[in-house]
Amino acid sequence: MVSSGLDDLYQEVVMDHGSSPRNMCKLKNPDTTAHGFNPFCGDIVDVELQLAKTEEEKISNIGFYGKGCAISMASASMMTEAVMGVSVSQAKNIFADFHSMVTNKSIKIDSYQNLGDLEALSGVANYPTRIKCAMLSWHTLVAALKKDSATVKTE
Ligand code: FES
Repeated sequence: MVSSGLDDLYQEVVMDHGSSPRNMCKLKNPDTTAHGFNPFCGDIVDVELQLAKTEEEKISNIGFYGKGCAISMASASMMTEAVMGVSVSQAKNIFADFHSMVTNKSIKIDSYQNLGDLEALSGVANYPTRIKCAMLSWHTLVAALKKDSATVKTE
């Protein structure tokens, strides 16, 4: 039987994104890409970005693809929705808030603003091995923003 904690972890919004990931695609002409790898399970994710050269550089399009558990795919899917169209500096702020949320179980969910659906992953903080699942695509996003071609590992 699944505990109530795990029920929280696999709540409806996470299952929806995990089973029907948004923006799971290869982009035609990405400006930057990165490859992520979780050595714990062997799962991988690639993140591709198109960047708009406006006054403040923005993520004009994002796609991801790979293979992973429901948590990693849901996190990647929600990540693409959260950072699509935002500036690079905003994307880094969202990364910081999300990272803080999933690694610090003592912080209450009301401490976060603008994380939207991502708040559904707050239960991950109670499951250390799943933090790597939730963070895989996010570390890969940061590497893509840095134009770092080395494979990103979750440990
Ligand atoms: Fe591999 Fe979750 S078990 S990313």
